[in-house]
Amino acid sequence: MARGPEAGHDPVLQDEPVRPARPLDAGQLVEIDSQASRTPWGAGRLEVALAAGAASRERVLVYEQQAGARAFLVYSTVMDEASLLYMAVAPRWQGSGIGRSLLVAGLAEMRREGARVCLLEVRESNGPARHLYRALGFRIDGVRRNYYRTATGREDALLMSLAL
Ligand SMILES: CC(C)(COP(=O)(O)OP(=O)(O)OC[C@H]1O[C@@H](n2cnc3c(N)ncnc32)[C@H](O)[C@@H]1OP(=O)(O)O)[C@@H](O)C(=O)NCCC(=O)NCCS
Repeated sequence: MARGPEAGHDPVLQDEPVRPARPLDAGQLVEIDSQASRTPWGAGRLEVALAAGAASRERVLVYEQQAGARAFLVYSTVMDEASLLYMAVAPRWQGSGIGRSLLVAGLAEMRREGARVCLLEVRESNGPARHLYRALGFRIDGVRRNYYRTATGREDALLMSLAL
């Protein structure tokens, strides 16, 4: 990975404060996860993704400003296919462009690693996420009926993809 001017920062894109996550980020990321999402990933799963290192296909990227994590995303890559597994922006920073910047950086990193398509699944009711994915060019390929649990029943998952 190309290294930026600040040793130890490993920015993914030179002008974006995005870097690979480290195990020491776990506390901040678990906090963002629990505050941002109705369906958090949870500490256990996040810690596994963070600890996995080079042997794992899962990658975690952090958006950091003033030494504080604002957002993160998790993806995995198999051959030329990347899957966006999860992303979350701390509630007080939502709507300020961080999700878009982080995802743009993540897509660039997936492509740099050889992926030619990015796949994801999103709850039909998740308007902000659907808006963001559509704005970056993702298209709906299909629907998994009643895939997710909700407080009152179940809802569909939309399957989306973007050529990288
Ligand atoms: C979905 C999420 C990642 C978006 O990140 P964000 O930083 O708030 O989004 P941005 O500020 O970069 O905005 C990106 C686009 O989405 C739109 N958007 C953001 N929040 C929105 C909202 N509440 N309602 C409608 N549109 C919204 C923005 O207007 C922007 O659109 P534009 O590019 O056409 O101007 C963030 O809201 C989040 O963490 N949500 C909770 C967890 C989650 O749902 N994760 C995704 C599924 S795994």
